[in-house]
Amino acid sequence: MKPEQLKRIFREGWTNQSVVDHRVARFIRGEFGFEPLRRAWKEALEKAASYGNAKQAIDMGTGPGTIAQFWAEMGMDTIGADFSSTMLASARQIAAEKKLDITFIEADVETPPFADETFDLVSSRAVLFTLPHPGYTVARWMRLLRPGGLLVLIGELSPTDPEKQKKAFRPAPGWKPSDVYREAMQQLPFREHSDKMLRVVMEAAGLQEITSIAMEGVVAARHEYEKLEPACGVLQGTPYVLVGRRP
Ligand SMILES: C[S@@+](CC[C@H](N)C(=O)[O-])C[C@H]1O[C@@H](n2cnc3c(N)ncnc32)[C@H](O)[C@@H]1O
Repeated sequence: MKPEQLKRIFREGWTNQSVVDHRVARFIRGEFGFEPLRRAWKEALEKAASYGNAKQAIDMGTGPGTIAQFWAEMGMDTIGADFSSTMLASARQIAAEKKLDITFIEADVETPPFADETFDLVSSRAVLFTLPHPGYTVARWMRLLRPGGLLVLIGELSPTDPEKQKKAFRPAPGWKPSDVYREAMQQLPFREHSDKMLRVVMEAAGLQEITSIAMEGVVAARHEYEKLEPACGVLQGTPYVLVGRRP
């Protein structure tokens, strides 16, 4: 399949309302809505941001604004970018509920419509796996940074245990990916990737001082959450936050 076809198929998937509702329920109202976990994530992200002095941030593939909300809470002038209009509609609604001033724009994050050296911080969580050109995209994001700016890449190492995999990856209720969608997924180069691979891509893009943020606090809070919500699956993956600086 051509990259434009892949993009169209994924955009359709990410725009499906059941997929959006599931993400909001699982992450905004679920994991990130559980106060001890939200605090632990906030500490990890504050630590990442502390490597620079960010005033202007953009969160790529922001979905319902999961990570953009944290940058805005820290006082950064924040943009959330996504190519799904329905994700953005829920992101706007949630930001309004939380009284957070975030600008959401509809854009393809592989080709974001900004000039080089526009931001102090570029972030992305759980997005590179769904892009046809993740390496090119990381290099593009790095150029959006001003010198000294930070790229913060957040993700989850997949469990290797098949039982854990079943709990970790639950398709949105009400949405059944078509055969074409499944075939398209096979063509994604970062469908399965590790933080080690990301480090290599970040280095190749020219980022320096690449650091892994300690995630013990998030993991401990996930244990608490799982006691209350045994089916939540938050202990199945291993979270990581990588931060690199543009020289
Ligand atoms: C797994 S969700 C992650 C959402 C959010 N970052 C979070 O942590 O909850 C992936 C998001 O990336 C967006 N996305 C995927 N490919 C994209 C592209 N090429 N341009 C813009 N957004 C994209 C999807 O619409 C979706 O909102």
